[in-house]
Amino acid sequence: MKIAVVGTGYVGLVTGTCFAETGNTVTCIDIDASKVESLSKGKMTIYEPGLDVLFERNRKENRLLFTTNLAEGIKDAEVIFLALPTPPGEDGSADLKYILGVANELGKILDHYAVIIDKSTVPVGTSEKVHAAVAANAKVDFDVVSNPEFLREGVAVDDFMKPDRVVIGTNSERAKVIMEKLYAPLVRQGNPVIFMDERSAEMTKYAANAFLAMKITFMNEIANLCEKAGADVDNVRRGIGTDSRIGKRFLFPGIGYGGSCFPKDVQALGKTATEYGYDFKILKSVMLVNDKQKTKLIPRVKEYFGGELKGKTIALWGLAFKPHTDDIREAPALYNIKALRRAGAKVVVFDPEATANVRKEIGKKVKYAKSPYEAVEGADALMIMTEWPEFRTPDFEKLSAALNNKVIFDGRNLYDLTEMRTLGYDYYSIGREDIVVSK
Ligand code: UDX
Repeated sequence: MKIAVVGTGYVGLVTGTCFAETGNTVTCIDIDASKVESLSKGKMTIYEPGLDVLFERNRKENRLLFTTNLAEGIKDAEVIFLALPTPPGEDGSADLKYILGVANELGKILDHYAVIIDKSTVPVGTSEKVHAAVAANAKVDFDVVSNPEFLREGVAVDDFMKPDRVVIGTNSERAKVIMEKLYAPLVRQGNPVIFMDERSAEMTKYAANAFLAMKITFMNEIANLCEKAGADVDNVRRGIGTDSRIGKRFLFPGIGYGGSCFPKDVQALGKTATEYGYDFKILKSVMLVNDKQKTKLIPRVKEYFGGELKGKTIALWGLAFKPHTDDIREAPALYNIKALRRAGAKVVVFDPEATANVRKEIGKKVKYAKSPYEAVEGADALMIMTEWPEFRTPDFEKLSAALNNKVIFDGRNLYDLTEMRTLGYDYYSIGREDIVVSK
């Protein structure tokens, strides 16, 4: 099949590369000429494990092409993906200017039937708006389909190639046949392609993300209560996760969810509810609780040092909003850096991938270490913000030698309580007993 993908951001690049891998010829289109040039020369513009190998292979075999020219890119394309940004506007609603701008252009230049696919997360009713924007100038037949993407950063290739399900919103039989053919190689194992109307497909994406954000937030609240009630959230998590109605996944408490999707989508769904006059109370709570959760450890750090952080150096392990990505959007680490600096502390940070992005955003406000151990050298405490695998089994002897005080504030519950007690650490985590050996 000949495919066009408009937008070479995260979703666009993964979509384009993976569909090239399943044997299609894909042209990716972007208005950013420098990005297109880099990609054409084989330089990947995002960090995503496993994507580079597929990218290189398909680019070399001429199944993955890049251009800045929309008309050239969509020539003979049976399907045209719109994978464009939908940044939150000032009121929290998704801004559709990029999507509708391209839809407008498409109407003018489309010279054959094509299925135009909304891949971006867009509010209910967007496919109708896209349809109208294309139709305003269209000389040929076309369909607009809503096909939300559920991939997670860090495991995007796997999520894309082996989706739990594919959701397709369309009432057009012609588009349905094309979409079935397109996705057939990805659902051979038997996972479903679920067809529905456009509005339901758009709502499905928000409902999925908001539900997961709520699930995490619920566990964070249970964890906060466990701390007060003397229960251990790890036991509670195992206890409830084995109930198949609840499920084991997304039950890990911590310092809140971040990233490019959950915060934005929860907010946008809230906005949609308001627009339709519905008071979606649970969503409001999810946002409030998550905001608070991000800096939950700060008061405990302050308390540990007798209420005064001036003159203290705090080492931070992990900057990315989660492991296996360099993405720092809405990363809890950034909120903690801000809070620590506001309290007068010096901050030294280490992350295996996200340092460059943080440097771009906050520059010299913190010190950047080249290794986890360099970060803790002479620091008064260690805080863990992201559960990168390399933080899970540190060399505790090296760590103890480097730190001024044997104290860890762990926002991701990486270590065993008994082990920390044996090692002689003061150890504060989420929803579990505090280990205090020094006092
Ligand atoms: C998410 C959705 O999972 C994906 O389906 C959608 O397409 C985009 O948004 P992503 O943002 O890449 O994907 O990350 P995800 O792995 O879902 O994690 C989101 C956040 O939740 C992270 O900050 C993570 O640390 C946090 N999280 C996740 C928890 O705090 N606890 C958990 O148990 C799981």
